[in-house]
Amino acid sequence: MSVQSLEIFLKEKKEVIDKQLPLYIEKMKAPTSLKEAMLYSVYAGGKRLRPILLLAAMQAFRKDDEAGLPVACAVEMVHTYSLIHDDLPCMDDDDLRRGKPTNHKMFGEAMAVLAGDALLTNSFGIIANINHPFVTSEMKVELIKGLSDAAGAEGMVGGQVADMEGEEKNLQLQELEYIHQHKTGNMIRYSVIAGAVLAQATKEQLQHLEVFADHLGLAFQIQDDILDIEGDEAVIGKPVGSDENNQKSTYPKLLTLDGAKKKLNYHIAAAKEALLKTGIDTTRLEEITNYMVTRNH
Ligand code: IPE
Ligand code: IPE
Ligand code: MG
Ligand code: MG
Ligand code: MG
Repeated sequence: MSVQSLEIFLKEKKEVIDKQLPLYIEKMKAPTSLKEAMLYSVYAGGKRLRPILLLAAMQAFRKDDEAGLPVACAVEMVHTYSLIHDDLPCMDDDDLRRGKPTNHKMFGEAMAVLAGDALLTNSFGIIANINHPFVTSEMKVELIKGLSDAAGAEGMVGGQVADMEGEEKNLQLQELEYIHQHKTGNMIRYSVIAGAVLAQATKEQLQHLEVFADHLGLAFQIQDDILDIEGDEAVIGKPVGSDENNQKSTYPKLLTLDGAKKKLNYHIAAAKEALLKTGIDTTRLEEITNYMVTRNH
């Protein structure tokens, strides 16, 4: 059992992703301006939580990073695209992301849209091109399908639409849960499940991990809503008060800040309960779950 602290684990895995991710873009035969815009948002960093979750899920099955790295990078590319588009003036209209001016502020709206398009589209190619003895063609198809489901109309994009249509409305908790589960939860679930698929988890383990990741995803977005109110702009690297400005439905708005925190703790407890049923070494995933509550960015 490793005694490495969570802090060091997060830092090390982030470094692995930070190093690998740009390589896919740098070698593309594409207009320099497009690559520059894509690399800008990729280099801007971020926590790399989704790829880290994927690698942590693999580690829970005692598998090393190698086979998971391309899928981890593909997930982060989809996530980065979603942030670029989320910040556009026609969406949340935010000027700051990952502590830097948003992509459209740097390169204009058209290039920001196209940089996002390319990050999304090329992510599928990265999975298709994996050349690793453990990663079978069947696995690749399953991983590509999973990413398409998590990111598309039945997943993140559907959630973003519901989020947009919910502006200036008083939504019910169930509707808000749909938004959070889809705009954020599905990509988090995919990250965990992709790691488990690569590690050849059993059907039963996958089911428990799905329940785990669904609670984790909700907890993650509830904390994001809380940080939009209580966070420090210099630390979160994006504007505080964006949700209020856009009259978004959020957990704190619906349940009060205190109620949102209670809900967050409920999902953390439920996530950990599901994890216990998987029969794998869940230490690291449990630590990451706890981090959802304590994270300040
Ligand atoms: C922000 O995600 C958008 C949400 C889905 C809440 P992260 O908080 O993971 O952003 P980065 O990747 O660390 O910048
Ligand atoms: C966006 O949710 C989730 C995405 C799919 C990008 P938010 O709009 O709350 O994310 P932030 O707060 O801008 O990162
Ligand atoms: Mg948004
Ligand atoms: Mg936003
Ligand atoms: Mg937010």
